[in-house]
Amino acid sequence: MTTGFPNFDSKSARLFERAKHVMPGGSTRNQTYFPPHMVYAREAQGCRMRDIDGNELIDFHNNYCVTILGHQHPDVVDAITEQAKRLTCSALATEQEVELAEIVCARNESFEKIRFVVTGSEAVMNAMKAARAFTGKSKIAKCEGVYHGSNDFAEVSLDPTPQNWGQGRQKSVGFSEGVPAGLLDSMVVIPFNDAAAARTILEAHADDLAGVLLDLVPARCGGHPASPEFIAMLREFTSSNGALLIVDEVITLRMAYGGAQEWLGVTPDLTTMGKIIGGGMPVGGLAGRADIMEMFDATNGKPAVPQSGTFTAHPLTMAAGVATMNAYDHEAVDRLNALGERTRSQLREAIAAAGFEGQVTGQSSIFIMTFSTEPLTDYRAVYRATSDRHHRIVAALHPKLVNRGVLISAWGLGCLSTPMTGAEIDHLSEAVQESLIEIREEMDG
Ligand SMILES: Cc1ncc(COP(=O)(O)O)c(C=O)c1O
Repeated sequence: MTTGFPNFDSKSARLFERAKHVMPGGSTRNQTYFPPHMVYAREAQGCRMRDIDGNELIDFHNNYCVTILGHQHPDVVDAITEQAKRLTCSALATEQEVELAEIVCARNESFEKIRFVVTGSEAVMNAMKAARAFTGKSKIAKCEGVYHGSNDFAEVSLDPTPQNWGQGRQKSVGFSEGVPAGLLDSMVVIPFNDAAAARTILEAHADDLAGVLLDLVPARCGGHPASPEFIAMLREFTSSNGALLIVDEVITLRMAYGGAQEWLGVTPDLTTMGKIIGGGMPVGGLAGRADIMEMFDATNGKPAVPQSGTFTAHPLTMAAGVATMNAYDHEAVDRLNALGERTRSQLREAIAAAGFEGQVTGQSSIFIMTFSTEPLTDYRAVYRATSDRHHRIVAALHPKLVNRGVLISAWGLGCLSTPMTGAEIDHLSEAVQESLIEIREEMDG
């Protein structure tokens, strides 16, 4: 069974034409577009979605690793439905907010106190504000090429090129055009997993450094975990220089019951999170040391960081989050991580069987396919490894997978949800193998 993608006579293709009249590029979210036309979702159940033409897709995308329980999990649907019947939106706090805070804080001792926001980007923004307020310093360091959401500061050096990334030492490069120079100066960029080089850069900014923002398993640096040496250096350097270690677990919280920090044995000062904790509803969270989280306490007048927001701790999100985090228990985490191992291993076999050189990286329930054998050690290594050939293969692979009923991200990243079994992994690896064989024939021909 194929979905017949792309199909310019489909409802999706026609809707995309309509959309282009009212939205730049036909959408309000760039990631939903992949060439040659958008596919519009209609409904979903478990790990399967149906588009508006009635085609079925196994969802290995999960909205960039959000829908950990898949779609329409009965507990989540019940929680949202019951909450919607009672109260959807209000200027009073709800019991569900307290309940979700208790559930998340109980998962890791480093989460002493928590605040909710609406997106992971907002969580990162507030973490940076808290770090500046708590330390009285202005600069934040981040690893080159790593995604921490869409605020201007976090986007610094997200996609630099050899033309602008700086020789030797990393340089702060704006992501959007028009980023003010002062903002670039307030960010310090370090290489991922190179403890010695990163330390040298941090030392030059030590007096001004408020915090270091770290994704422990950054997909854009190859999907390998931060090394013990790198983590130890950052932990020691921040502690002894009056700066905070902020671990961004917006994606990685799924990797262990207490997040990737539990698995990799690091205790940050602050942790940002999002995605799975909202059960498919918009969410972000910022947790950490109680003395730092006091920066947000408004019970004694204006706090150091006056964080708020109309939709913060939205009752529907809190209700969905409670149901989701209760269901994503130790057993579910372990089962999904084991299925992730199997997925990466089957994908490696599929790539080799199709006659391609490549690697499948990622951790726990996340996989990333890269069509190169170069080691993926940091952003620059990934940049070099994913030159033309990789991009051509991934660009050709994506529509062929959609045609075979498989949805992953357009750049080769995918993830699992708890309703998946070996049958879905078999479907994925067969679809990858068949698609790659077709691609090889087209490349050879
Ligand atoms: C590590 C990391 N931080 C922050 C974000 C931003 O989260 P959101 O898209 O909810 O703003 C993301 C989103 O993918 C992420 O992967």
